[in-house]
Amino acid sequence: MLSRFSTQLVRWGSSSARHRSTATAAAPSLKLTPDQIYAREDKYGAHNYHPLPVALAKGKGVFLWDVEGKRYFDFLSAYSAVNQGHCHPKIVQALQDQAETLCLTSRAFYNDQLGEYEEYVTKLCGFDKLLPMNTGVEGGETACKLARKWGYNVKGVPKNQAKIIVAEGNFWGRTLAACSSSTDPDCYEGFGPFIPGFEIIPYSDLNALEKACQDPNVVAFMIEPIQGEAGVYVPHEGYMKGVRDICTKHNVLFIADEIQTGLARTGKFLCVDHENVKPDMLILGKALSGGMYPVSAVLANDEVMLTIKPGEHGSTYGGNPIACRVAKVALEVLLEENMTENAQKMGEILRSELLKLDKDIVTLVRGKGLLNAIVIKETKDYDAWKMCMKLRDNGLLAKPTHGDIIRFAPPLCITEEEIYESADIIKRSVESFL
Ligand SMILES: Cc1ncc(COP(=O)(O)O)c(C=O)c1O
Repeated sequence: MLSRFSTQLVRWGSSSARHRSTATAAAPSLKLTPDQIYAREDKYGAHNYHPLPVALAKGKGVFLWDVEGKRYFDFLSAYSAVNQGHCHPKIVQALQDQAETLCLTSRAFYNDQLGEYEEYVTKLCGFDKLLPMNTGVEGGETACKLARKWGYNVKGVPKNQAKIIVAEGNFWGRTLAACSSSTDPDCYEGFGPFIPGFEIIPYSDLNALEKACQDPNVVAFMIEPIQGEAGVYVPHEGYMKGVRDICTKHNVLFIADEIQTGLARTGKFLCVDHENVKPDMLILGKALSGGMYPVSAVLANDEVMLTIKPGEHGSTYGGNPIACRVAKVALEVLLEENMTENAQKMGEILRSELLKLDKDIVTLVRGKGLLNAIVIKETKDYDAWKMCMKLRDNGLLAKPTHGDIIRFAPPLCITEEEIYESADIIKRSVESFL
């Protein structure tokens, strides 16, 4: 299928070519060597990622296999989208059943899955309403639009003056609004002009938040309870509680971006649960579908959610029957299989093993539940990239972030035996540089 598309795209200039046969199509991927697979992606795909050289063909639970049949522990979980484990049979079944029944109707009509899903998630998370989208960044965009509307219609902010506060090091995707509020040059450099109305304050700094909220035009503070992409930065204890208090005091919406931290990843169902606080808006994505399908959602109460009227926001695929069915089952799996508790327990074991690593190489270990990171001291002999290559050779996949940090976030179904086995791979890999 892929090769047929690429053949057509190459010839798109000629209208008659669009209808020609696909006789020149490339061989199916299974017959390609890893090097050929890398070269093909490099030639036909945009260079907006820098993948670790491994060509994957299969996944099950905590494991991935490459095209040559070698098995790896997955310690990235597709950036925490595969919390439930690869190809979870119950979620696969839901996807198959719904795909054979009804896939997409758009929101021009009602469908029999959306309301059931919305009722389930709102009751589970304790909000009045849900707005369904697809990718995480669309969830963030939706939350920003809702906050602005609420600011104008409810808080009384003058037209076009609404301000949203974000934290340094934030990551919420790649749209122009996300680039406009980013402090990472890779994310924003070369993409201006930027969208106004974002103010950036230091992360884990309640004084800075208190000061920024003095401005009556501030409508929201959008924050990750742990900064995932920045390198698993855990804020000081009491930060989330302080954020809740300051936002309440200044009538500012507290938006929790739990796209990476939510859904059992950090050893609580939501990361804000560690401090027993409830945001005004909750953004979910990634593991909301167990890695099966792009599904995101914004949850809020009526005062916020009903500020957006028909025609003012939406998405063709948002709330489609497959997404709803898959997401409901993906959430059920997390609960039925006690993945929150397992993330908590396995995370503690993993961190205690990581803390035993040679301190000259691994200078820092941090994280909560199964969202963890190590910091690698860079020398001429080793750095985070070389460490990830060594881990790969030893059967564990992880990816460096920001040069010197490696995130360790396996699927939440990992067993105690598997945690010790993977900790041993990490130990052997680190020791190979001694
Ligand atoms: C906290 C957070 N928010 C938003 C996003 C964007 O999600 P997506 O890549 O699905 O657009 C990410 C992605 O890594 C994320 O970590």
